Amino acid sequence: RLLPMIAVFGLILLTGCGRADLSALRPQGPAAETSYGLMKLSITIMVIVLLIVFSIAAFVMIRFRRKPGQSEIPEQVEGSIKLEILWTVIPLILVVVLAVPTVKAVFAAGNDHWNDKNAIKVKVTGHQYWWEFEYPDYGITTAQDLVIPKGKDIAFELKTADVIHSFWVPSLSGKLDTNPAGTINRFSFSAPNEGVYRGKCAELCGPSHGLMEFKVKSVSEEAFQKWVDGMKKPAAVLLEDPALAKTFKDQCLKCHAVGDQGISVGPNLTGIGSREAIAGILINDDSGVEGASVEENLKTWLHDPKSVKPNNLMPSPKDLGLTDEEIDGIAHYLANYKLN
Ligand code: CUA
Repeated sequence: RLLPMIAVFGLILLTGCGRADLSALRPQGPAAETSYGLMKLSITIMVIVLLIVFSIAAFVMIRFRRKPGQSEIPEQVEGSIKLEILWTVIPLILVVVLAVPTVKAVFAAGNDHWNDKNAIKVKVTGHQYWWEFEYPDYGITTAQDLVIPKGKDIAFELKTADVIHSFWVPSLSGKLDTNPAGTINRFSFSAPNEGVYRGKCAELCGPSHGLMEFKVKSVSEEAFQKWVDGMKKPAAVLLEDPALAKTFKDQCLKCHAVGDQGISVGPNLTGIGSREAIAGILINDDSGVEGASVEENLKTWLHDPKSVKPNNLMPSPKDLGLTDEEIDGIAHYLANYKLN
């Protein structure tokens, strides 16, 4: 009996210590704060009910326990209108106390801001196992790093290219599924502060479901505009080495886009050197504290994508006939393809 109790307690502690960038218990925006408020309210009520019920049970067990030498059954009591009313009315009141703010929050969350002129529209597409972000008002598409201006309502429209995924940024909002067959889901959230928040796929979607991560970069309005301008710039010189440029064009650009070249079947690579992570999970850190450098991560990915994300659709460049030198050259080029 002790073991499960310790396990549950450990789990509660672990969730409490979650990092601020990936914890619903450390809300960083209004939508997440509303959910957190509801969690606190329901847990408080549950704890109070638990304490009262357990105290009464303990009191009864001690007060009315069988005394030494006692052999006859004590007086039996049956039915009490007063008690019946009491334990019907109290739960009813508790249900109302829980329901009113919950229903209010559900209706507030239902405002998707899609037709709000001031909101930034983002069309999200879930893919096995990466995220595509299209900004219809700006005519740009990116992947894995969702860049948003702080404080603005971001209106999302969700769909999937394959199976059901679920779009979730725990510290900013609740989650919503991406559905197939043309079913579109809309919702919105905002991030009042600048920062990088982690997003996760929250619906089992295949062997690399747990690795289907993305980043939300909340930046100042000016930085956002600068990012948009950078994304719209045509990719000028692809690669200085003409042979490598041809390989890149013939192989990589069949599925990927850089600037105005190639197509977005796989993740759009425009400005990939400026991203927070490669493939959403290999954290880029040129100082080497949190992760490897962008170039190292790109090499890790390009030399064997399936070992980083099992079952993902990217063909291994080696299988396409690229040599180690070519792969390293492309990694070097992409790592230095920064936006600003
Ligand atoms: Cu996509 Cu889990």
